[in-house]
Amino acid sequence: MSRGGTFASIDIGTTKVCTVVGELASEDMRILGVGIAPSAGLTRGMVENIRDATESIKASVEKAERSSGTRILSAHVGVAGTHIACLNNRGIVAIPDRTRPIMPDDVTRVLDGARVVSIPTNREIIHVIPRYYVVDGQDNVSDPVGMFGTRLDVETHIVTGIDSAIQNLTKCVENVGVQVDGLILEPLASAEAVLDQEEKEQGVVLVDIGGGTTDIALFIESSVFHTAVLPVGGNHVTRDIVVGLRAPYQAAEDAKRKWGHAIPSMVDAREEITLDAFGSEGSKTELRRRLCEIIQARVEEILEMVSAEVKRAVHDDVISAGIVLTGGTAKLSGIDMLAEQVTGWPARVGMPRNLHGLTDALIDPAYATSVGLLQWTVNEAEASTWHRPSRASLDMGSIWRRLGNWARVLLPE
Ligand SMILES: Nc1ncnc2c1ncn2[C@@H]1O[C@H](COP(=O)(O)OP(=O)(O)OP(=O)(O)O)[C@@H](O)[C@H]1O
Ligand SMILES: [Mg+2]
Repeated sequence: MSRGGTFASIDIGTTKVCTVVGELASEDMRILGVGIAPSAGLTRGMVENIRDATESIKASVEKAERSSGTRILSAHVGVAGTHIACLNNRGIVAIPDRTRPIMPDDVTRVLDGARVVSIPTNREIIHVIPRYYVVDGQDNVSDPVGMFGTRLDVETHIVTGIDSAIQNLTKCVENVGVQVDGLILEPLASAEAVLDQEEKEQGVVLVDIGGGTTDIALFIESSVFHTAVLPVGGNHVTRDIVVGLRAPYQAAEDAKRKWGHAIPSMVDAREEITLDAFGSEGSKTELRRRLCEIIQARVEEILEMVSAEVKRAVHDDVISAGIVLTGGTAKLSGIDMLAEQVTGWPARVGMPRNLHGLTDALIDPAYATSVGLLQWTVNEAEASTWHRPSRASLDMGSIWRRLGNWARVLLPE
């Protein structure tokens, strides 16, 4: 198998757009270029102004092109937003000839079967992810190709989105002259960047708290069981500070980053902070603890929503590895402690790892999705090169088409 290859991905967040260009060098991924630009025209992870969103994507892509010295012709793009929904479905096929092993075509057939689900006409399937296969009743087979059996089942996790939201996102990227090779659900990308295999095996909840959304991916026995996107994020925390302290948005944002803590009792009860304020004075002095109380109230609410979402999907006994927090809001001091208090699960903050090359900007929880998108793309391409069932998209035809496209994903400038 050729392990070479150059890839590009675009994370279009509510607060920033991040384009990453990377290559697979032996076992590791090397980052060749990064382009980060402030985001505009998006609310809660969805495009609300095509022109503004296009401009921010353009700025990010151009920066990534400059830093990598390549021209980006196509890329994988992250998708989130409240229009996302998920379900689990099973596919079953017979293997007609019992003298031959199960072939990649059989896997394609069973996956095609699993994707026959009734979804509203305004929705389209983004992922059909095989969770595990069953060969003649033998459970938890991770790759059935080469095995013998007469019946092949697959348990899948299916992610859907509203087609107009997907079209809007795709249009913005295409406006910049970049072809969309595939869409990847953002929490799945973040999970790729920050979760350990052991955590996925023992049951873990990945929670990416960004600016406008909180993205959830729940893994049980190494495979994804539930995904969700909640319409709240760090920007809501900042807005609460604006209202609570009557401060302009930027001052509230700066104060959150500089003095914020998720556990108010951990900051000195008498410590004072000075920040810009509305009104004739222009600035004001507040107790730091007051700021932290405002932050805690909203972050606690977000974590309670996460806990409720997870408990609706599974019994919390299966989440032994607890919760891994990432996204920009995971940089809030004490958020892991608050998460442990609210959910009762162990919690840690996760950031991208195992990166080489131009990584300075990316080793940060805010870039978990950006890095994970690239890692997912690389893994998907590797899986399809091996004729192995891909974890991401089961449309094998399209994977091969995309493999053919690699050569023109990036052109040296
Ligand atoms: N040190 C910090 N403390 C608290 N919050 C922070 C800190 N640094 C960044 N944030 C918050 O993180 C959020 C941005 O996170 P991120 O970059 O992951 O969002 P995004 O990917 O643009 O948005 P989304 O994924 O929701 O569409 C902002 O609300 C910002 O205020
Ligand atoms: Mg994000």
